[in-house]
This record gives sequence, C-alpha cells and structure tokens, in this order.
Amino acid sequence: MAAFLVSWSIVTTPLAKQSQFVLHEKRNNRLLVSCDQNQTDNKISIENFDEKFERRNLLLGMGGLYGASNLLSISPAFATPIAAPDFTKCSRGTNLNTGQPLDVNCCPPLSTEIIDYKLPPVTKMRFRPAAHLATEEYIAKFERAVELMKSLPADDPRNFMQQANVHCAYCNLTYEQVGDSDLRIQIHNCWHFFPWHRWYLYFYERILGKLIDDHTFGLPFWNWDNPEGMVMPAMFSNSSSPLYNSRRNVNHLPPATADLAFSGKDAKHPSKIIPHNLTLMYREMIRHARHLEDFYGAKYSTGSKPNPGPGTVERGSHTAMHSWVGEATRTGEDMGNFYSTGRDTLFFGHHANVDRLWTVWQDLRGSKSKHFTDTDWLNTNFLFYDENAQLVRVKVADTLDNIKMGYDFQKVDIPWQKNKPKAHVKKSKVASTSGAPSADSVFPVKLDKVVKVLVPRPQKSRSKKDKENEEELLTIEGIEVDSAEFVKFDVFVNDEDDDPYVLDKAEYAGCFSQLPHKNSSRVKTKIRLGLTELLEDLDCEDDEYILVTLVPKAGGEISIGGIKIIYV
Ligand code: C2O
Repeated sequence: MAAFLVSWSIVTTPLAKQSQFVLHEKRNNRLLVSCDQNQTDNKISIENFDEKFERRNLLLGMGGLYGASNLLSISPAFATPIAAPDFTKCSRGTNLNTGQPLDVNCCPPLSTEIIDYKLPPVTKMRFRPAAHLATEEYIAKFERAVELMKSLPADDPRNFMQQANVHCAYCNLTYEQVGDSDLRIQIHNCWHFFPWHRWYLYFYERILGKLIDDHTFGLPFWNWDNPEGMVMPAMFSNSSSPLYNSRRNVNHLPPATADLAFSGKDAKHPSKIIPHNLTLMYREMIRHARHLEDFYGAKYSTGSKPNPGPGTVERGSHTAMHSWVGEATRTGEDMGNFYSTGRDTLFFGHHANVDRLWTVWQDLRGSKSKHFTDTDWLNTNFLFYDENAQLVRVKVADTLDNIKMGYDFQKVDIPWQKNKPKAHVKKSKVASTSGAPSADSVFPVKLDKVVKVLVPRPQKSRSKKDKENEEELLTIEGIEVDSAEFVKFDVFVNDEDDDPYVLDKAEYAGCFSQLPHKNSSRVKTKIRLGLTELLEDLDCEDDEYILVTLVPKAGGEISIGGIKIIYV
C-alpha cells in the first residue's frame, strides 16, 4: 500500500489548467497533496516521499482510477473530504472472526461514465406524506412503484435489490477510502449520516416517481416521534402488499407501540413507552443537540478511521427503530442489520422521518448555525445511480435544504418540544455521598455489569453567560464494541433510582447504540452528552462531582476507555 493521502475532487476540466501541487507531510508519515495558489512555477515539492510511489500516479489519481475522461482538480490546501468511492475497488469484505469472505456481495454495477450531479430546477415539489395519514390512492401508487422497481432486470442499478445493496456497500466496509486501501468508507457513526441518507432517499424517490411517471411522487415518512404515528404504518404491515417484508419482529406488528428506547428486549414498563419516547425526542433534538457535532456526528475526513462518533438521533431513536422492526434474532434481519436493512421498504419510511427530523432540527435552531461550514464536510462526494440509471457524483453541500432539492414534508405536530424530562431526585451532593470510586481509578473498564463512577467537574457554579458560551459535555471515549453485534448502553447522571428501565427523568442522559454489520471488527468510537440543562434540572450545578452510571443493555463485549467533562 502506498503510504500517502491524496485530497482531491474529480472534475472534467483539463489537467493543464490546474494549479501546482504541494505535498504536505501529515502526522503518521502520510502525505497530503494540496493546491498551493502562491506557487508560480510548476515544481512539485515533495517531503518524506515514499520511494515506491510514482509521481505520475499521484497526478493521474492513483493510476487513473477514473479513466481518461475524468481528470483531477486538487482541493484547496488542507482540504481533505472523503472522496467518492471507486466502484472498481469495492470488495465483498471479510468476516474478521472467521477470516472468510462475506456471504453477501453488495458491490454496485460498474459504469464508465460519472457525471457531476446538479440539482435540477424545482418546478413542482414532491410531497412526502405522513405514512399514517396517507390516502388509499397514494398507497396504491407507492405499491405500484415498488412493484415496478422489483421487476426491473436484476442488473439494473435501479432494481429493488440493487438499491438495497447501495446501503450495504456504503456501510459494510466494502469501499476503500480513495488513496488508502487500509481504510474503509463508513457513512454511519459520523457527520455524513444525515447527508448521505438524504441523497440515498432522494434518488430512491426519483426512481419510484419515474417508474410511475409521477414527478411529484414523494416517499411517505413514518411519523414515529408523534403518538399518532407510533405504530408500524398499516401500508407496511399488510401482508399482501409489495411493501410487506416477512423478516420483522412479529411482536412489533400493529398494534404494538414503537419503542424509541428499544434495547433488544421488550419494554419493562409498556405503559411508559409513550412518555419515554417523547422525552427521548426532546433530548435528542434539543437538550443534547446544541452543538452541530452532537446532532450530526463527529468529523470524518480523508485518512480518518471510520466511526469517529454518532450524533444524538443516529445512536438513539434511529438505531432503536431499526432493531425494533427487525427479526428478534441476534443478527436482526432485515431492518436490524446494516447489510440487509434496505431490503425492507419500511427502511425508506423510517429514514424519511429521520430526514424530516433533520429539517425540523434546523427550523428549531432559529438564528443558530444549522450546518457545518467545514469544506471537509461540504465538499464530500458520494456516488449514486439516478432515476435514469446514470452514475452521478453528488456533494454534501447540496443537501442543506430539502426545498432546494425539490421535496417537502406534510406538516404534522411536533409534540415532544415541551417534553423536558423532570428530575426524579432534585438535590445536590448526590455524587459526594454515593461512595462511588473516582473515574480515574476505574477506566478503562469492561462494561459487563453496571459501572458507577464519580466524574470531577473542572468548573462549577457557572454563570448564565458561561453556560450560554460553552456547553458542559460528558465525553465517553474509547468505546470499543464488536461490529457484528447489536450494542446498547445507557448513561445516567446522579441517579439514585435504581430502575434503569425508567427513562423519562432528567437523570437519564442518553445512550450509545449500534446496529450489527455483516462483517465483524472492533469498532472504536466516542459519544458526547450535553450536561448544562441536565445539571440545572437536578439542582447540582454547585457540585464538584457528578455520579455517572453506565448500564449495559445489549451486545457482546463492550469496553470503555475513559470518561470526562469538557466545555465547548
Ligand atoms: Cu444507514 Cu438507518 O441506516
């Protein structure tokens, strides 16, 4: 493997027009190519250059990956967005436990031509209805479109299984990161979660619309954040419909209420599912989602290992609903496993709601920033087949506004905005009288039982201004889990009530959870949980320590590297 990193985007302008290139040394001895606008000669300066590496390959994109018609333009200095995958470098992947190739192959068909996608001018909006409110007429249309998608030739990239495999390929570590065959592309557990899925649904919707010749067709959203929509929508549970999938948990068909805190087992307190769901949504969308990173997920760019850290919705309600729908087995097909989830049409109803929640979150932000301005995010490219079976290269920057993308959601109530969880025990000094050991003496730790630790607060009695300027965050780092398992643990702060299945209280600070993958590897990741409002509600802002309780709920061997409080 060549030991360098290349930062680029592919355009169809001639190479001769491109600026000069400079290789910058990066930590870990990798090299980064960037454009240096100030250089006037054509010299390529190379530091720490790997002898085995040919300069020509660098200029032509690692041996001309994209063919002669696609030449390179180099991104501005230090820009390192993940490049779109090279489909010729898609591999089936390996089960790291057995060393055997995976028994699924989800690589896409190849195409010789890639077009840079431009959002078409919006003449008529596509309308995405709430699934539980959809009319008979709409359902008939959707069914017909899915039927047609299923009957396309198996090798047509718009075919139902091909479309399901798009998800599998982007999350089962089948694509190499361009420029580093040791690193894989993973669009989950990072800041690409919302934009990648938006593009995925965008083309899925356009393919369906084209098949029924309805350019206003929009996917339905499963409105699971609203008590009115918390049952699996009838259109998906009708066993004679093409929308039906038999690989689902039979206990969760209607009239079961969706459990947004599902941890692999049915709720201990069924009457509390709805209040739990509502306070959970409040946490994910408001309380713990103040910073962009906490809502979107952590930065993931060229040269980074996958899984830097998921956002609130991804690791919470989103993952819970996947595993709640999937079969009640360890691997959870179809919805409960990354490789198979796109085989269930309910995936698209589920993710249309996740996509809608992105828009809702942006609307609730008012004048606060609604998206990253980091070019490593905005300039990230993905490849998809569009409704004409043309392979297109899209960018994250085009996903910022669903209206510009030509679709809108049916307006429905947002009931959880006022469901701020209340403190179960509102008093200070819970931590110092608990007798729990300090975090330093406990981590790293294997989470095979409940772990309680004291975590020091570097600042206490913060003023209103301090709190406005900086969020107090609990960071849990070095979380290591087996990627083949459904994993979940919950986090409580100053919780004296020892029932870890009661979640609609301020002491519940959130969770980490992950769906299983087909391949197995150790995933290393982190989460951050906002504390500012929680500490106000518990009346312990003057305390020097908080008591943190970690409760494993599902999933193989979990280990945790460390835990601390930061202010950002
Ligand atoms: Cu790509 Cu909900 O998963």
